[in-house]
Amino acid sequence: MKRTMILGTILGVAAVNAGAQDIDRLAAEARAQSVRLIQELGGRLRQEMASGGPETAIGVCKDAAPEIASRLSRESGSRIARVSLKTRNPLLGTPDAWEQGVLEEFDRRVAAGARPDILETAEIVAEPKGRYFRYMKAIPVQTQCIACHGTDEAIGQSVRERLHEDYPHDRATGYAPGQVRGAVTVKTFLGN
Ligand code: HEC
Repeated sequence: MKRTMILGTILGVAAVNAGAQDIDRLAAEARAQSVRLIQELGGRLRQEMASGGPETAIGVCKDAAPEIASRLSRESGSRIARVSLKTRNPLLGTPDAWEQGVLEEFDRRVAAGARPDILETAEIVAEPKGRYFRYMKAIPVQTQCIACHGTDEAIGQSVRERLHEDYPHDRATGYAPGQVRGAVTVKTFLGN
């Protein structure tokens, strides 16, 4: 009886340790994919802003962002997307309950003085369809973002009109550099 219990304890510890290593490895992969998405998009955006200004750069966020996210999803076998508490495109960017909780936590931590560029969360979550590894990395608002996500003055009238045409339910404005615009979210099926 005593032996079984000890064995049980040891096995339990071993299982927890394996879980921790697993989560570290999965988090490292998810972090790398998230950084790729943020950097590829940032690079394309800078290019378009420099050559054509915000009006042409709207296309980068509109077409290139979902394109890059689907390519990274195909390559990795995980679902990789961008979500936000205040979406411009609610069809693609609306968080599920877990993601919403994490985004709210990111906002609380930034309000308490944390740097948004280092905020991330990794967790193994049991859902009705199975166990999933879930990861999120905050996307900070940078100076180049406010031409399309800032105050009315920062956006300017012609861009505002163009955005309003494409996104009548746009809530992704009023941001300032240093805030959290949203997050990259990575979801990986682990098994049943
Ligand atoms: C030229 C205009 C423009 C600039 C500059 C811009 N965005 Fe966007 N952003 C958009 C558009 C348009 C969408 C909607 C994309 C879609 O249809 O999926 C969007 C959507 C997003 C989303 C997805 C969630 C949502 O609200 O639908 C995130 C996250 C985001 N932008 C972050 C940023 C960040 C961070 C920057 C600065 C590095 C930035 N954007 C700069 C136009 C812009």
